[in-house]
Amino acid sequence: MDTIMAKRVITTDLIEEDKTVENHLRPQLLDDYIGQSKVKNNLKVYIEAAKQREESLDHVLFFGPPGLGKTTLAGIIANEMGTNIKITSGPAIEKPGEMAAILNNLQPGDVLFVDEIHRLNRQVEELLYPAMEDYAIDIVIGKGATAKSIRLDLPKFTLVGATTRAGMLTPPLRDRFGVVSHLEFYSVDELKKIIIRSAKVFSVEIDNKGAEELARRSRGTPRLANRLLKRVRDFAQVKYDGKITAEVAAFALDLLEVDRLGLDQIDREILAVMIERFNGGPVGIEAIATTIGEDVGTIEEVYEPYLVQNGLILRTPRGRVASDMAYSHLGLEMREI
Ligand code: ADE
Repeated sequence: MDTIMAKRVITTDLIEEDKTVENHLRPQLLDDYIGQSKVKNNLKVYIEAAKQREESLDHVLFFGPPGLGKTTLAGIIANEMGTNIKITSGPAIEKPGEMAAILNNLQPGDVLFVDEIHRLNRQVEELLYPAMEDYAIDIVIGKGATAKSIRLDLPKFTLVGATTRAGMLTPPLRDRFGVVSHLEFYSVDELKKIIIRSAKVFSVEIDNKGAEELARRSRGTPRLANRLLKRVRDFAQVKYDGKITAEVAAFALDLLEVDRLGLDQIDREILAVMIERFNGGPVGIEAIATTIGEDVGTIEEVYEPYLVQNGLILRTPRGRVASDMAYSHLGLEMREI
């Protein structure tokens, strides 16, 4: 990801400090997982059914914005199935041989989690087709006229793929997933529960209003809620008496320039550009990206979903339009055209 993104306190990318935090906080069972109730209820049935039949679970694809719990769910699947999880990612596997080795080392029923699965290269992806469908891979031995292809049987495993962009997956790969689940942004109430649970793990005191203030500014994303909780905890400890109240949360988050809707400077810049340069739209995503010097993919994948979800940007066939709410949030007047 680019440098501006990397520096945002509200980046939903996984940053180094999140790793230990997340491993610590990750729920292990579906019943402890808050939110995503549709996905959770379906998974419960599929897991139960596979266990009854003593089969491996069908391959699962999770898609949706970053930070919503795809890796956590993959871990829970393995845990609920009583198997192990092996974690890798699309860009980490460069050669088919590396994927073949990973697959060959799995035990029956294991979960192979491939993050950013849309970034697998073509040859690696093609190796996955027979692996997913027939639990076998074809390996070519030798070169030229004497080359031979041999079939290697694999244990029955479950591939769990995660992607922020389902549209970037090739149809043959997408079609091989039996379960395709879309993860959605969390409600304020759900985030509040996650924050209260995390605060217990961190042994930090937080009241109901404090949790709500944090939840409202966490842009529907548990990863962010947990990161902001840690930052606010620091302010609570140093500037106040250690307890996170609404006042403490608001004070700290204002300093971090995360506003009341969870927007940061870049989000506000996107809205301001739409309003001030393009008269509120309709404007194409490319024009917005060029004006603020970001790449189109990042805007579309990372910034825009939350702005659209919250009704700040409206997507129309003619382009993006800034809503009335975007004007009032920025304290700008709507212009007559
Ligand atoms: N921590 C991060 N995401 C969570 C979730 N969805 N449920 C419970 N705890 C979490």
